[in-house]
Amino acid sequence: MRRSNNNINWTKKDLLDLENLSKEEIELILQTAASFKEVSAREVKKVPALRGKTVVNLFYEPSTRTRISFEVAAKRLSADVINIATETSSVRKGETLIDTGKNIEALKVDIIIMRHNYSGAAVMLARNLRASVVNAGDGWHEHPTQALLDMFTLREKLGRLEGLNVSIAGDIAHSRVARSNIWGLTKLGAKVTVCAPKMLIPPSIEQMGVRVTHNIEEALAGADAINVLRMQFERDKEKAFPSQLEYFKSFGITKERLESAKKDIIVMHPGPINRGIEMSSEVADGANSVILEQVTNGIAVRMAVLFLVAQANDYIKKNK
Ligand code: CP
Repeated sequence: MRRSNNNINWTKKDLLDLENLSKEEIELILQTAASFKEVSAREVKKVPALRGKTVVNLFYEPSTRTRISFEVAAKRLSADVINIATETSSVRKGETLIDTGKNIEALKVDIIIMRHNYSGAAVMLARNLRASVVNAGDGWHEHPTQALLDMFTLREKLGRLEGLNVSIAGDIAHSRVARSNIWGLTKLGAKVTVCAPKMLIPPSIEQMGVRVTHNIEEALAGADAINVLRMQFERDKEKAFPSQLEYFKSFGITKERLESAKKDIIVMHPGPINRGIEMSSEVADGANSVILEQVTNGIAVRMAVLFLVAQANDYIKKNK
């Protein structure tokens, strides 16, 4: 069994979800991220940790934050980075995901970071490749690095995760961000409440260890943080909340609603924000908002993930 400096194991070649990580593995990522954070404050924002490694960004769905953040993270670790635009690749000619992955691997690529519209796509790719696979969001399943950067930001702001009351409001049903946050936060001892209209709460979500409310005032009362999710109109146009205006009136986070919450409540959003639908601009840009700090912290978290999976995979390949 291999051990890191702080005696916690990291042996996985991939990062696919938080459901299958232990509390200790999540802690190790967050600790490693904390040690990488200062790199971005240096004049020369670079360390040689992944020098000689090649990282590919393979995104089958649109992304601003995640794709750029992974690219910046890999470059700050001195890796070479290739971005594949799937709309101009042979994916358009009907190539399967596994064939695409194997061809990328044949180019001696070390890590494939993939976003895909199908839940389970990252797991399938990882099982078929020796290269590391990092899940950058798969369908409605998980978005592990988003949850890790949310947790990193919460801990940085509030000093702990254990015992915190964290509410997640919005389109829970379609949200891979919600699922990853629930797995991660509950493993680290936070108490999670989810809030949405009935049609946007998946059945049996209580089995994940969360409290459910359909009342936004109830979700805000006593919460240390509220993570507000985007309404995903592109995924379920027919069944999403019938009126955007109605949603904002009933569930939108406004300055007035925040006045009934804890004074220092942390307001988060994974982005992109639908201003005036899930939250007002006043709140998004207000004193409680840490939305842009989340984006900044994403770099350190993704540096940690790339570093750990690359190290583990080197070990696996050498000891096979
Ligand atoms: N938070 C997030 O996943 O944003 P992007 O879709 O822009 O990557």
